[in-house]
Amino acid sequence: MSADAMKRAAAARALEYVKPDMKLGLGTGSTAAHFVDLLGEKVKAGLKVVGVPTSEATRAQAESLGIPLTTLEETTALDMTVDGADEIGPDLTLIKGGGGALLREKIVAGASKQMVVIADETKWVKTLGKFALPIEVVPFGLGATTRAVEEAVGGKPCTLRKGKDGLAFVTDGGHFIIDAAMGEIIDPPALAARLNMIPGVVETGLFVGMAGVVVLAGADGVRVVER
Ligand code: A5P
Repeated sequence: MSADAMKRAAAARALEYVKPDMKLGLGTGSTAAHFVDLLGEKVKAGLKVVGVPTSEATRAQAESLGIPLTTLEETTALDMTVDGADEIGPDLTLIKGGGGALLREKIVAGASKQMVVIADETKWVKTLGKFALPIEVVPFGLGATTRAVEEAVGGKPCTLRKGKDGLAFVTDGGHFIIDAAMGEIIDPPALAARLNMIPGVVETGLFVGMAGVVVLAGADGVRVVER
């Protein structure tokens, strides 16, 4: 089975958690896009739900499929968010932000009663950190913020993310992303707390204590891990 087929299989299984009239956070990335696609089919067939997208890309996709959307101003509590991840540790701590949407993803997941993560099994790791940790920062003072981040991650290399045009990648919120390749993250909550103290850091891609369910698709089928 291809990686893409696994992503779709995980997305299809997560659809079973969706009930009529739910308010849903809609994730970002290639796996979440499968979920939004399948949800769009259900909506066309008559399912009534409303979504809050975690990025402009997901907003465009959901709108094109006719999925009704709302905002966290109009509704503050969502029933569930379904989103992908870059790495998933055994306690369901996540690294997210490979697609650059980590800030909105975290706000939307934080406003949800449940976070369901969908992924292919390659995302499941014993220890987080092989995937460079995305850290969203404000453009002002980038040099100082980058040095402080490097210090906080033990002097490991931190790279300003670039877009296809070679210029700094700009998030939907108008921020930059530093990717911190620090290797094994032994204590994710402590690291997240350290990074969040740095002026200029908006948010990190460490999602601690947020995911309740992980739907993992592999060559042998789909398994569900609950916290
Ligand atoms: C977007 O910012 C990310 O958090 C994605 O959810 C994550 O990168 C997973 O993306 P894929 O599903 O494309 O692997």
